[in-house]
Amino acid sequence: MPFSIIPQPASMTVGETPVFRLTKLCNLHADDESVLAKAELDRFFADTLALDLLGTGKEHLTLSVDPAVSKPEGYTLRVEPTRVTVTGHDASGVFYGVQTLKQLLLQEEGILPAIEIEDAPQYGYRGFLLDVSRYFFAPDAVKQLLDAMALHKLNRFHWHLTDDHGWRIELDGYPLLTQIGAWRAYTNFGRTPHGGFYTKDEIRDIVQYAHERCIQVIPEVDSPGHVVSAIAAYPFLSCFDRDLNVATNSGVQHDILCVGKESTFDFMFGVLDEVLELFPDGMFHIGGDEVPTMRWEHCPHCQKRMEDEGFTDVGQLYPYYIGRVTAHLKEKGVRVFAWYNAQLGEKIDAAVIREHWDVLPGDDADLSHVVDADFHSYYFDLPYGMVPLKACYTHDPAKNGTQPFGVECCLWTEYVPTMEKAGYCAFPRLGAFSETAWTPPDAKNYDAFLRKLPAYLALLDAFSLPHATRKQALPGLLRKWGYQAWFWKRNLHALGWKKNLDDRHVAKQSSVDSR
Ligand code: ACM
Ligand code: ZN
Repeated sequence: MPFSIIPQPASMTVGETPVFRLTKLCNLHADDESVLAKAELDRFFADTLALDLLGTGKEHLTLSVDPAVSKPEGYTLRVEPTRVTVTGHDASGVFYGVQTLKQLLLQEEGILPAIEIEDAPQYGYRGFLLDVSRYFFAPDAVKQLLDAMALHKLNRFHWHLTDDHGWRIELDGYPLLTQIGAWRAYTNFGRTPHGGFYTKDEIRDIVQYAHERCIQVIPEVDSPGHVVSAIAAYPFLSCFDRDLNVATNSGVQHDILCVGKESTFDFMFGVLDEVLELFPDGMFHIGGDEVPTMRWEHCPHCQKRMEDEGFTDVGQLYPYYIGRVTAHLKEKGVRVFAWYNAQLGEKIDAAVIREHWDVLPGDDADLSHVVDADFHSYYFDLPYGMVPLKACYTHDPAKNGTQPFGVECCLWTEYVPTMEKAGYCAFPRLGAFSETAWTPPDAKNYDAFLRKLPAYLALLDAFSLPHATRKQALPGLLRKWGYQAWFWKRNLHALGWKKNLDDRHVAKQSSVDSR
């Protein structure tokens, strides 16, 4: 029988006749290194199958680590008469073998033929970004998405914790960031206030939850743009000490950090140090996307900084800021990630991992420090008519046979207020993405993926993950045009007249505004 496993294993052979039946009499064995995988399987038996193993029968299920097997994070899975063996190269490998086993057991209701799987990931960095600033996602929702990541064998959670629309992480040194910066007056879905934030204990709990699922966490504190929520809390952070509200309108905001004042750096270093204490994985994303410089052009502090540094172009303040923040983090032994930004060009520290979203690396680029988050393929907030399932599946981040450091799919949430909508946006595209992140290219095939779709959607149902239907995920031409029309209307709304109205209001308050 053909099994529908997502992401597709590197190699899989399947026999004809049943040789193993999972019942509650089955014995489960795990060595000391396989505790995470065993805990995952225990949860699956208890929560999904409602099966309480007695361990008195002749069936055996064995989880163990053997570094001689496969490659890092890889595993072999063997089903023989009365025996299932999952052997991982390391603890992650066994864990991913268990993810495959869960799918096998669900599809055939616990009755398996002889199976031989050898599997290992194509990419070491398999990322998923969740934006919790535009809409706050409570800890339980974040955990549900971490479970979905694990199911798809993804291993890097990029947590976009701050942006114009809300500051989501509680810090002792700067309490107003959450007292004021976590709340906005209204959202894209109605004139009701919205907000929320994570306490430090909640952050620690979520990080541990991720670790238990072989996921490392990369926090993002975005700056020097996308900081209106911080400015609303501490106006001194802006040029002209602006008294702003947490942003309610979408689009790029003109008010960013003042990089002339030394107090801005004191603030940011304090924030970074406090945030770092909560995230032990040694990685930090500093943002750096979408930085309009019109405030800097007129700010006396920024002008003074330019003079002191001998800058002739206001654009030079941007690499100056990023350079200081990067140096601060590097000093602490942290690996720095940033959005690739053409403004920065070659000036970025060579050690920084650049995440490309709008401009992809050139053909001759060094990909060893690149994460591919191509928005045409991996931005799941965009409609299926704009980021089609097929584009998501077939996008190839490799160039000339060289693959980048990592791949990442992104769930921005300007228009994603609920878990229901998050699931609709993410699935089945995340399944398609996972086959690029995990499956070797020669085992990938879009038509085969489409044939697996019904079983995949049933799998998502089994784990209570909301998703788009096949019809929604594969829209016909008319629906595609409909999506496009909706998208452009939304963008005109976001970037055009509504934004300008808000900005004119700000402009009235300041004679130095310039656009
Ligand atoms: C981004 O989408 N501004 C990274
Ligand atoms: Zn300034």
